[in-house]
Amino acid sequence: MEFSGFYKLSVDERRKLAAEFAQLSQEEGKLLETPCSLPLGVADRMIENVIGSYPLPYGVATNFVINGTEVLVPMVIEEPSVVAAASNAAKLCKSTGGFIASSTAPIMIGQMALFRLEDAQSAFEKLQKGKEQVIGIAKKYAGSIEQYGGGVRGLDMELLDSQAGKILLLKFYIDVRDAMGANTINTIMELSSPEIEQMAGGKARVKILSNLAIKRIARASAKWSAAELGGSDVVDRILEGYELAVVDPFRCATHNKGIMNGIDALAIATGQDWRAIEAGCHAYAAWGGKYRPLTRYYKDKNGDLIGEIEIPAQVGIVGGAIKTHPVAAIGLKLLKAQNAAQLGEALAAVGLAQNFAALRAITTEGIQKGHMRLHAKNIAVNAGAQGEQIETVAKALVDCGTINVSKAKEILEGMNK
Ligand code: HMG
Repeated sequence: MEFSGFYKLSVDERRKLAAEFAQLSQEEGKLLETPCSLPLGVADRMIENVIGSYPLPYGVATNFVINGTEVLVPMVIEEPSVVAAASNAAKLCKSTGGFIASSTAPIMIGQMALFRLEDAQSAFEKLQKGKEQVIGIAKKYAGSIEQYGGGVRGLDMELLDSQAGKILLLKFYIDVRDAMGANTINTIMELSSPEIEQMAGGKARVKILSNLAIKRIARASAKWSAAELGGSDVVDRILEGYELAVVDPFRCATHNKGIMNGIDALAIATGQDWRAIEAGCHAYAAWGGKYRPLTRYYKDKNGDLIGEIEIPAQVGIVGGAIKTHPVAAIGLKLLKAQNAAQLGEALAAVGLAQNFAALRAITTEGIQKGHMRLHAKNIAVNAGAQGEQIETVAKALVDCGTINVSKAKEILEGMNK
């Protein structure tokens, strides 16, 4: 299907094309059309003290080819230029095969921390020796995930010193298949804790999953040809921008924020717990003691740019908001994601695309040119433009090169005279 110039179509035309691409039902198409597709009754069951709902723009990034399959990346976000940037980055690596993505098994970590140990060292040794027995206790409560092929896969433990005394910390590795895993893991941790407390002679005070999901990783890579980027100087500039993020945590935070622009937007569009994903990505970036970029760039032997990303991908396609929010499942169809692994891989691909686009813009023409051009419509609205005035004022702002609210007001006043 041809998506070049997609952004120049009307909202209705875009929706029709996207619906055809993902073979959405009429009902699903209608849901996207409805300004607030989340019925208040459903919202009221999702969280507490509901007084309304809060719609955000729903866009799709085009040009994405992930492991040879063309997909549309659904993105829910308030910030202009993010969707355009992702589409642009994906377009620029299409000729070299798009994104190659992969992921590990969906292993999440459940923590159980034992405090007030009668004898910490001997409790540690006892649980180490009886590791299989401890795993067996946890397995008794893992039936719900075992029926889908998941289950408890392993256990590590360590004895920690803290202001609260010795802590015997158990880390259970649990395969959660296509679920995000929080409920499964928290249930296993809580139900198995009384028997483990008895074994250890301590109190299990913290029994919950960890969002530092180092065993559930998604990776993506892409090649951007130097020729298509406009020459080797552009590749070198992007590498310079990347190297700054490697050595400077202040730049690195912004670098990773740009990555999360894409990851969060896709996570929200598909009903994921995006705070878990955010926490996991930043903790992963700092894992090892130094905050570092989630992406990596280098030149191959032909001088083309290779970009890579690695993120913890705690996502699910069953349970949670994906089932309750009426629009969340549509995102999976646009993405052609059949399982959680493919969703995680798409998160990695869009994160890499976003980062590449921002680095390219920053190190060449500057971020403001593309970003502010797309932000101009917001500025026009802030200045009071309505209806058709919005496009006219935005265009005039871009043409004169000064994109701010007072200039927009001046243009608007001129138009209204
Ligand atoms: P351009 O080179 O003018 O684009 O880039 P183009 O006109 O050559 O079009 C190329 C493709 O881009 C199009 O292909 C579209 O796919 C897409 P086509 O459909 O024509 O075959 N595209 C658009 N898609 C939707 N709406 C549009 C649109 N325009 C182009 N209006 C562009 C223009 C804005 C894409 C470019 O300047 C860019 O990539 N800029 C980066 C912007 C960015 O990164 N924004 C993120 C927000 S800033 C931020 O918060 C993060 C940051 O701080 C992170 C960091 O510091 O690392 C920057």
